[in-house]
Amino acid sequence: MIIKKAELEAVAVKPSQYPEDNMIEIAFAGRSNVGKSSLLNLLTNRKSLARVSGSPGKTRTINFYRINDEFRIVDLPGYGYAKASKSLTEGWGEMMEKYLETRQGLRVVAQLVDIRHAPSKQDVQMYEYLRYYALDGLVVLTKADKVSRNELNKNTAMIRKALDLKPEDRAIPVSALKRTGYENLLAEFDRILEEDR
Ligand code: GTP
Ligand code: MG
Repeated sequence: MIIKKAELEAVAVKPSQYPEDNMIEIAFAGRSNVGKSSLLNLLTNRKSLARVSGSPGKTRTINFYRINDEFRIVDLPGYGYAKASKSLTEGWGEMMEKYLETRQGLRVVAQLVDIRHAPSKQDVQMYEYLRYYALDGLVVLTKADKVSRNELNKNTAMIRKALDLKPEDRAIPVSALKRTGYENLLAEFDRILEEDR
């Protein structure tokens, strides 16, 4: 797949703001600062389609990006942002549940995990939740430029185990900085879209 066209179609905090549920969607979930927005920019080859920030909690809305007029990538707000107020955290859960549980076009939620660290308790919970809704199977290991080749293999195995991935589940290392790994992820997107044809 080559992404030729990418546009922000909607920014939502509630279902009435979602675009029409008429396309396949692939969403990105993960803790704040893991690199969701950076990954979107990498895949679409755009410097600032999605806002990237050094301070966590940047994306607080559900952002729908229309890709090649064929499917959508949905950038979900990050979790585990310690400074977020209680009311914001509660609002987050409700907002995520509404989207994940009702969206007909949603095929898979790519769970992003920082390749340097063991998944957090919330990462594990999120992945279990995705498994329950059959939206699991695709993990993206971000910031691969920060580890050596040896650590990459070691940490990939460690994260697969911590999330209890099945042998057929994918865990794909990527680096937005070095611009590596995205072809593997795009190939995965092709496969997901192909299943619907
Ligand atoms: P929220 O919107 O807060 O949920 O964060 P996010 O998951 O969208 O993360 P974002 O893409 O804004 O990136 C967070 C920080 O990590 C930024 O400082 C990025 O430059 C950095 N970052 C993202 N991807 C990579 C990567 O592949 N390598 C390195 N070294 N840094 C990265
Ligand atoms: Mg973001």
